[in-house]
Amino acid sequence: MPARLSALKADITTLRVDAVVNAANTALLGGGGVDGAIHRAAGPQLLQACRQLGGCATGDAKLTPGFALPAAYVIHTVGPVWHGGDKAEPLLLASCYRRCMEVAIAHGLGSVAFPAISTGVYGFPPALAAPIAVETVRAMSALQDCVELIVFCCWSDQDLSVYQSILEKPQPLHSLA
Ligand code: APR
Repeated sequence: MPARLSALKADITTLRVDAVVNAANTALLGGGGVDGAIHRAAGPQLLQACRQLGGCATGDAKLTPGFALPAAYVIHTVGPVWHGGDKAEPLLLASCYRRCMEVAIAHGLGSVAFPAISTGVYGFPPALAAPIAVETVRAMSALQDCVELIVFCCWSDQDLSVYQSILEKPQPLHSLA
């Protein structure tokens, strides 16, 4: 049964889902943006857990507990830095969403919240990133019956309207096959 996809404007650290996705960097030792917010809300045990992971490659994803977060888990992923779009950034961004879904499915998680990976400090244009996010997650969710709810957690009204316009579009028939 494909998952239900939705978008909302919220601070991802407040969401009571099985896992929130963290837009981290390859060191996995915290940072600014959503990475900083998640570490602040989860508490110092998150950094201790991340230290055991030995970093994370761009496009990959790794799981830790959520500690003081309402979410039980954090799926840390590292998005590509935008260099104009001809350095495999779209493929690497799609890989982030795919790997996060693989990690969620492998751990039997029922609900996952994604921030807009790479669209802040890493400079990926939100209007280009959102379709990659939705199409990758939609394709992954159609192949499984574990994850039932996927939330695209937006930080701005502008991002929210981009995701809502994509989610409201009727799905191409081949994707329903
Ligand atoms: N909840 C939801 N979304 C948030 C939050 C929050 N609390 N804080 C920021 N965002 C949004 C940003 O507005 C942006 O839309 O998350 C999206 C991702 O932005 P960044 O956090 O800057 O992540 P990214 O662009 O992937 O850059 C990652 O930034 O913080 C460092 O350590 C991190 O080096 C890494 C880089």
